[in-house]
Amino acid sequence: MTVYLNGQFLPKQEARISPDDRAFLFADGAYEVVRAYRGHLFRAKEHWDRFDYSLKALRIPPPASADFSAIASELLKRNTLADAEATVYLQVSRGAAPRKHAFPADMTPTVYAFAAPFTNPVEKWASGVKVITLPDQRWARCDIKSVSLLPNVLANQQAQEAGAHEAVLVRDGYAMEGSLSNFAAVLDGVVHTAPRTNYILPGISRLVALGLCSALGIPVKEFPVAEADLKCATEAMLFGTTNEVMPVVQINDRKLGDGQPGPLTRKLQQAFRNYVEECQRRG
Ligand SMILES: Cc1ncc(COP(=O)(O)O)c(C=O)c1O
Repeated sequence: MTVYLNGQFLPKQEARISPDDRAFLFADGAYEVVRAYRGHLFRAKEHWDRFDYSLKALRIPPPASADFSAIASELLKRNTLADAEATVYLQVSRGAAPRKHAFPADMTPTVYAFAAPFTNPVEKWASGVKVITLPDQRWARCDIKSVSLLPNVLANQQAQEAGAHEAVLVRDGYAMEGSLSNFAAVLDGVVHTAPRTNYILPGISRLVALGLCSALGIPVKEFPVAEADLKCATEAMLFGTTNEVMPVVQINDRKLGDGQPGPLTRKLQQAFRNYVEECQRRG
């Protein structure tokens, strides 16, 4: 496997990162995951804009010479994934310095990236998935795509152990988003999803899905569903780079409707797939 580290493409086993790197010591960094559909980087500009936003928020200078699209495409090529389904992971940490909470002004960021093959979750897309609700134990800057993901990791692990696909995180009584996806529920025929605030990651897939809702005339309310009202949801779904539009058919012990993906979810899911294929065709 060929990875990218600080300006070089090299075999993964030769990649060396300092134990003083602040990503290792403090989870002091940001990341992006981009879906590559047969070499086409999906919504790359939005991903790089969000990367920029995260780095600025963390006061990490954006690495001057790193062209993320070029790095991603080269990684796909070098790993024979240019014509495959894949994801590209890119991370920028503040860099290496003797361990101290406050950071020196003149640090050189560490830039690391890799590409991996990806298998579309076609069975789950067809059947829908179960989610569980858990308390949102994250900080108040969930809008930053930081590598500091321990609450997300623990919530996702708990979901897996409960036989669920995702954990929906509840803050102050409201379902905000998943551990690695955005969440929406349909109440009275309206798609409800948490608004873009510091309490959710502004997902690129969420953005695409809401645009498709508008094009399809599906009403949307950007307001989170109270946990107590989830029992009234007729449909629910997750949005994310690896999920696209994932139907949710069970929340905790309660099946939604007849336990099958709902009609509105299906419509949106198909529209998302069509949009992906159109983007691929356009190149
Ligand atoms: C917490 C969280 N919310 C939402 C998302 C979905 O974002 P995107 O659609 O950009 O993948 C992610 C993706 O990793 C995430 O980690």
